[in-house]
Amino acid sequence: MAKVLILGSGGREHALGWKMAQSEQVTEVLFAPGNGGTAVGKGRNIPLDGQVKHWEALAKLIQQEQIALTVVGPEAPLAAGLVDFLQSRGLTRVFGPSQAAAQLEADKFFSYKMMEKLNIPQACGVCCTSMAAAKEAIQTLASGRGIVLKVRGLAGGKGVVVCHTRAEAMERLPLLVDTFGSEILVAERLSGPEFSVFGISDGSRVRLIEIGLQDHKPLYDGDVGPNTGGMGAYGPAPLVSSTMIRHIADSVMTPIVREFKAQGTPYTGFLYAGLILTEQGPKVLEFNVRFGDPECQPTMCLLKDDLYEVLTRSFDVNSAFAKLSFLPGAACCVILSSQGYPGPIKKGLPVSGLDDAAKLPGVQIFHSGTKRVGDRIETAGGRVLSVTAYAPSGLVEATKRAYEAVASISIEGGFHFRTDIAAKAVS
Ligand code: AMP
Ligand code: GLY
Repeated sequence: MAKVLILGSGGREHALGWKMAQSEQVTEVLFAPGNGGTAVGKGRNIPLDGQVKHWEALAKLIQQEQIALTVVGPEAPLAAGLVDFLQSRGLTRVFGPSQAAAQLEADKFFSYKMMEKLNIPQACGVCCTSMAAAKEAIQTLASGRGIVLKVRGLAGGKGVVVCHTRAEAMERLPLLVDTFGSEILVAERLSGPEFSVFGISDGSRVRLIEIGLQDHKPLYDGDVGPNTGGMGAYGPAPLVSSTMIRHIADSVMTPIVREFKAQGTPYTGFLYAGLILTEQGPKVLEFNVRFGDPECQPTMCLLKDDLYEVLTRSFDVNSAFAKLSFLPGAACCVILSSQGYPGPIKKGLPVSGLDDAAKLPGVQIFHSGTKRVGDRIETAGGRVLSVTAYAPSGLVEATKRAYEAVASISIEGGFHFRTDIAAKAVS
């Protein structure tokens, strides 16, 4: 019998913990800090998070509670070295990459160079360390479709500027350099539909999540408006065949994991490749060292295997390498966000209708940014709820069910959501 700790507070963490709680081996799921939806059933919230100042307390918690498995949800504590810190305390059952391996997301120069070395298809680019070098790269790179400027380090989703022309890139460069410094990856702009592929690495092998997922990052319908953390996701995306996913596993995920192993810094944890399907085939836009949010929410609704067992196996390189299995059909997640998101928002607004929504067939309401105050749920973040629905018959029904659930929820003062999640795939 085992206790699990999930670090993080979003919809991704709620979905991971929800799935974990379905394991017969799991007696309790602790969330640090969790949210208004996580302390139910086997769930318990602990008022700690991934900031360095809480690491000592997290180590103590894992020891005192005899946690059998810790899963780190977001990238920031991974990039800061939480896994290494816990391992140095003898706590080895922590699922997520080391600081060295987390550079794959935290350092765009590092990932660009690794992909170049491994011949992984990506946009042509130049790693620049001064404004002058960036200007020169903007002038010399092929720019038929435009130029993309990427800040080298983690920038909370604000570090990528997609420009349609060289002139626009020249104009936007100074503000980016002022805000984030002069280490900028200048790359050609690619075009095509985007999708994500996920795997679970044990340091040597990748267990593939064999469904293509699509996120919807822009705020408004039709993919317009400011970029967000993601306004909805669905899978399996019909755009991504199993052959394509397996090709990506062989030509992208496995070489990355082998390279980390060869460098002496094995990559363990979720591996997330963000791809774009160009006329020349799929190319990698970025790697992340965690699960995607909201892609995780529909994925957890589709995964058949016991998540506790799957993740625990990744600590044993001698374990049998079984394929992951998924339910037939599809799942769709619609994000409800606070008015004003991704800009400033008001918190503490009451949320209602959750119980009715959760009673609808196939519907699972994961909380993203909420807080429980007495017996009421209040808003506590930009993305408030991840309304997710599964349907065995496929995406049309899953999407319909998700939007039916959205219709029974209200938030004082209103909320925003996209009405076209998965629309391109079902039309
Ligand atoms: P990244 O954090 O590198 O994934 O970039 C965030 C978003 O910027 C991606 O999801 C794409 O929509 C866009 N993007 C990044 N790189 C490129 C590129 N080379 N060409 C076109 N769009 C890009
Ligand atoms: N779905 C986008 C992300 O998790 O970064």
